[in-house]
Amino acid sequence: MDISLDAVRARRSVRSYDGSALGSAQEAAIRAAIGEAVPGPFGGRPRFELFGPGLGSFEKGKIGTYGVISRAQAFIIGAVERASFAMEDFGYCLEGILLRATELGLGSCWLGGIFDRGAAGKALGIGPKDLVPACSPLGVPADRQSIQERIIRFSAGSRARKPASELFFEERGGVWQALEQPGIWAEVLEAVRVGPSASNKQPWRILVSERAGRPELDLFLEEDRRYNSMLGEIKLQDMDMGIAMRHVEVAARAQGIGGAWLRHAPETIKAAAPRRYICSWIAK
Ligand SMILES: Cc1cc2nc3c(=O)[nH]c(=O)nc-3n(C[C@H](O)[C@H](O)[C@H](O)COP(=O)(O)O)c2cc1C
Repeated sequence: MDISLDAVRARRSVRSYDGSALGSAQEAAIRAAIGEAVPGPFGGRPRFELFGPGLGSFEKGKIGTYGVISRAQAFIIGAVERASFAMEDFGYCLEGILLRATELGLGSCWLGGIFDRGAAGKALGIGPKDLVPACSPLGVPADRQSIQERIIRFSAGSRARKPASELFFEERGGVWQALEQPGIWAEVLEAVRVGPSASNKQPWRILVSERAGRPELDLFLEEDRRYNSMLGEIKLQDMDMGIAMRHVEVAARAQGIGGAWLRHAPETIKAAAPRRYICSWIAK
């Protein structure tokens, strides 16, 4: 999936829409993106559908967003089969679609907390093995944010991001130290830093390293265990990691750093709880 780095930079959560329907070209482009966005790096194949008046599955119900989203006419809903790293795959795939939406001038907003999962599951025709991790509205942003949106953005500190020194590391003297020279990875790391995360908790930590002469990025989740277990099998922070993986890939390709995902045997990676190793991007 070819996505521009500009989309990563321009994306922000949009909760207030102008009430218009998707144009037919936009709808077709989103449907194409749905096809291109899978599989995830761990091999999972989440299923996505457009949901809204005139979009196919609307007659089966309505997505309640409990006042968080105003005047959106379209949603993208999705399900994934339970499996290891299913949440990462879901995060990676849906973020691909939402970045394409950004390129099309459409607003979106990850919704993993409160939405009507039952209605989304029914519209998707899910089976007993499936989970409905998140959804997003899609549409033209309203000129003005609703009061509700301003309150949410303020309380989540939506614009604020942790400094790079708290997120990106290198090993010196056997211990993690703040990364001093990002080198070839500067834009890639910045693409992770500006990404969305549940409650803007920014749980991604990246160790810049090298194995057998190849530079790599090792991605870890600094898990808030209580927060991440609040929704049972739906793990918002594991989805955050999948989103970060998409951002790494988009930015690496844009910078001409070819590469691939590889999960090293976890016993070969040092990680102390609450830090959990997820996967590595190996430059080629
Ligand atoms: C997995 C995930 C779940 C989220 N769930 C919600 C949600 O339920 N409601 C909401 O208003 N925002 C939700 N968000 C959006 C975040 O609050 C938002 O990305 C963050 O505050 C950063 O703001 P930005 O996206 O505008 O950069 C979620 C984001 C992610 C990645």
